[in-house]
Amino acid sequence: MEAPTLTNLSSGETEDRAITSDGITRLALNHPPPVPAVFNDVVSDALSRVFARTSPADLVATHRWMGTEIDRQQGAVFAARRLGGMPNADRVIVAHSTQAALHMLLPGMIGRGGHLAVEQMTYPPVRSFAERYGIHVTDVAIDGDGLDPNAFEDLCKRGTPSALYLLSTYQNPTTVTMSLDRRREIAAIARRYHVKIIEDDIYSLLSPSPLPPISALIPELSWYLLGTAKSFSAGLKLAFVVAPDAATAARTFWPGVRATYWMASPVSAALMADLISTGGDVKILSSVKLEVAKRHADTLRTLPMPIASDPGCLHVWIPLRLGLSSTDVAEAILRQGVQVAASDSYAQPGWKPPQAIRIGIGNPSSQSVLLQALKTIASVLSDFENDLRPHD
Ligand SMILES: Cc1ncc(COP(=O)(O)O)c(C=O)c1O
Repeated sequence: MEAPTLTNLSSGETEDRAITSDGITRLALNHPPPVPAVFNDVVSDALSRVFARTSPADLVATHRWMGTEIDRQQGAVFAARRLGGMPNADRVIVAHSTQAALHMLLPGMIGRGGHLAVEQMTYPPVRSFAERYGIHVTDVAIDGDGLDPNAFEDLCKRGTPSALYLLSTYQNPTTVTMSLDRRREIAAIARRYHVKIIEDDIYSLLSPSPLPPISALIPELSWYLLGTAKSFSAGLKLAFVVAPDAATAARTFWPGVRATYWMASPVSAALMADLISTGGDVKILSSVKLEVAKRHADTLRTLPMPIASDPGCLHVWIPLRLGLSSTDVAEAILRQGVQVAASDSYAQPGWKPPQAIRIGIGNPSSQSVLLQALKTIASVLSDFENDLRPHD
């Protein structure tokens, strides 16, 4: 059998969803922890109500287009929990996923030859999607409070990017949550130079004390993306998009009527609308938050080194000692049966980011599998530390 590398892992049925059929525990994936005791009852009840209102055949008879009026209204209620004010339902698009929405937004609002600014370490698919559409990506420096406003303003002065893609809460990969002051600074610069914001707020629903998104400070230029993959379940496949205004929403997404790949599955959209209107979403979220907090506490207890994270964050960032390479460390951990992500994979080729590894604590179905994997990581890291220590 081919030796596992960071990218060629198999999947398949095993006793824990994080364990591949090759026996590797995947902590590079960042799924929310399963909470079947609550999830199964809440979702079963919601689906019964959905199918009592609409027959299965009618529900899936056609595409969901931009979502029904009810989907959009419930999407507005859902997004309002983060945005503060309730957006008009005409500004809300119900999409298949955050990634699908990005595939509409990047070519639709930037286009070939245009410029997209991103955080210096960012969600890797954004770079490859931009490349696919002939969009230039420019990195903006980040610091302990997120996107560096001076670096962003410098870039705007040198030639304004059309848009900035960023995560203001639980940044991927660094876990940083921007302060409110920093959010205000970024919003003010975007307004001054007329840069559109694509704010991916996918991790924010798990925060115990979330701050207002940048999109709430600059709604006229913001595309706000609130996906369900990191707070409910990855396979639900749904994201709400709040556009700056109704006309721009229609202009950017409606031509996609000839491209249906970005549209939500009717079952997922109807299920989520029901969950939002009955409060089932809040029950699931509370349960996921509790589970994440427990796993976070376990992680702090098991890993002896300083880590960056937060009790609501699905991922944990472990800065490495000077002289260590994140790729070497990730490969050594993989050889012991655990897959983690190296900081190198979030950076543009050619730029060496601060060396660190990222682990997703939600992916294992059971806490015991997570604990075992954490112990493996701790042991490999301590071997590296020992190797770095001067010997007598
Ligand atoms: C920052 C970020 N956005 C979006 C996604 C994927 O979301 P979706 O499944 O809705 O496309 C991920 C998944 O890893 C992510 O980390």
